[in-house]
Amino acid sequence: MCGIVGYIGNGNVYDILIKGLHRLEYRGYDSAGIALVNPNGRLNVYKTKGKVENLEAFCQDKDLEACAGIAHTRWATHGEPSDCNAHPHFSEDRNLALVHNGTIENYKVLKDALSQHGCTFHSETDTEVLVQLIEYIKTKNSCSLVDAVREALKQVVGAYAIAVVEKDNPDQIVAARMSSPLVVGIGQNEFFLASDATPFVEYTKEAVYIKDGEVAIIERGKPLKVVSLENKESKVDVKTLEMSISQLEKGGYPHFMLKEIFEQPHTLHDCIRGRVVDGGHRVMVNGVNDNKDKFKECKRIIIVACGTSWHAALLGKYLIQDMCRIPVEVEYASEFRYSNPVITKDDIVIAISQSGETADTLAAIKIARGMGAFVYGISNVVGSSIPRETMSGTYIHVGPEIGVASTKAFTGQVMVLTMLALSIANLRGTMTPEQIEELGSHILQIPDKVEQVLKLNNRIERLSLIYTYARNFLYLGRGYSYPVALEGALKLKEISYIHAEGYPAAEMKHGPIALIDAEMPSVIIAPNDHLYEKIVSNVQQVKARGGNIIAIVTEGDTVIKNIADHVLEVPEMPECLTPIITSVPLQLLSYYIAINKGKNVDMPRNLAKSVTVE
Ligand code: M6R
Repeated sequence: MCGIVGYIGNGNVYDILIKGLHRLEYRGYDSAGIALVNPNGRLNVYKTKGKVENLEAFCQDKDLEACAGIAHTRWATHGEPSDCNAHPHFSEDRNLALVHNGTIENYKVLKDALSQHGCTFHSETDTEVLVQLIEYIKTKNSCSLVDAVREALKQVVGAYAIAVVEKDNPDQIVAARMSSPLVVGIGQNEFFLASDATPFVEYTKEAVYIKDGEVAIIERGKPLKVVSLENKESKVDVKTLEMSISQLEKGGYPHFMLKEIFEQPHTLHDCIRGRVVDGGHRVMVNGVNDNKDKFKECKRIIIVACGTSWHAALLGKYLIQDMCRIPVEVEYASEFRYSNPVITKDDIVIAISQSGETADTLAAIKIARGMGAFVYGISNVVGSSIPRETMSGTYIHVGPEIGVASTKAFTGQVMVLTMLALSIANLRGTMTPEQIEELGSHILQIPDKVEQVLKLNNRIERLSLIYTYARNFLYLGRGYSYPVALEGALKLKEISYIHAEGYPAAEMKHGPIALIDAEMPSVIIAPNDHLYEKIVSNVQQVKARGGNIIAIVTEGDTVIKNIADHVLEVPEMPECLTPIITSVPLQLLSYYIAINKGKNVDMPRNLAKSVTVE
């Protein structure tokens, strides 16, 4: 949450920073701000509540001349979204300006101490404490900005990615990280820094991922220098980015979310490529063969994740239990980390995260590793923290996901979990080569099947008009369709602000069925699987109580078609592969309902794409 960006070089500093902020807006959009360092000794800070476009309007008549600068887009934690809580924050003498992504846990103690030394505070943020502390140390010790930053960070407890500029030192930006992402881009006589590489991918493909406890010294005309808080120099490890600029644009779609829904045939193809080969005969996911003993001998698998990734994790449980006969537990990372978990070296912990930066998931990984488990990560963002903190793992390879509501990452995660389960089953001999080949050949057809499902788009758009003003929704499913119901409900809630509940269909009769009336539509996921007859009864129970039903069924269904009010038919697939196919119409339904209500689907209120705070 929160995005930071910085630039030093001969380009137009303001334009580069504003463009960078737009790219990072998915990380938060409560307020935005910019600090511009002028070669003639001026340090201008402009900031406003609201989105980056508000900042641009605010800056129209301002002095924008600069040779370096830093900028920020905020997801509020300490202090409400307001002009004065927006970053950058000035130090007391207005000689320093700082942007921050993360949370300073001991800010109160530091603030009290600084107040006693005469510091005054102008915001309610934890961040302002940090810039005041740096200035205090710098003045007291008469030291350089770099030394003051190092000393200040030694006193800080919490998570941060920061960047600081100094009025009298326009050729330098100092940046540092602890548990929040930070990457430096190296161009021709210019440097960029950002929370991820998206703000600078069009200028350079050379990137250095800063590690926890490191300070980056970015100086005009000098090579990038990275030191520890103890001032020990680290090796600068330059990586080549594989991202392309077209992946970061809407490509003719009105929203990133719609683009990402429609990209799924292509992203699933990329996700499967090289992992299911010889017509389905061989299925192999990275990290399984290299850790054969771990996967062969483990006694239990625990999957940790948050939000949509948790729904994929729940599907992972069904898949791994079915195919590998290993007991699987699924935990919310935020609960797991404080649950005093019982973990042994015979356990494998799988962490799933699109962003690779979710704070709770990262904390869960550290706990599991500390207790001796083998930790395997599934992530989308190359070079993010989770792949670096896990012992092995794989990427879903679906390209950057910008829409806050996760769509293509969910189907990519489920696809990887399916292939992972097949790889483990192969290793443990819990499935025959023929069974693996059979499923493998169906996996190869998934991109085409999803393409077919997307043809429902116009029907779903029309259908959405009937239900736009419903105040509550139920999403029901059984077996593999239960996590799909949870995910469908989450999609609707987060972008349309309609209350929606996902529920196991058979549990309805134990309480929630009391909610059913003509005002409460139910979306029932009922493909032709081994629980089909059972869910038909649940469909009848809802109908008997006057509920309206939208059902997702397999092509050719005749039974539910005669009971439900609307059916959306999807192609036939083996049961364990249906979640990928049935989740796509639910993504479209949420999208259109939110659009009908005039909501900003790419930037829903109160949310951020990457949740790097607790
Ligand atoms: O990056 P992660 O997969 O770790 O993110 C987890 C959740 O924050 C995320 O899935 C969230 O629930 C999405 N907004 C759902 O669309």
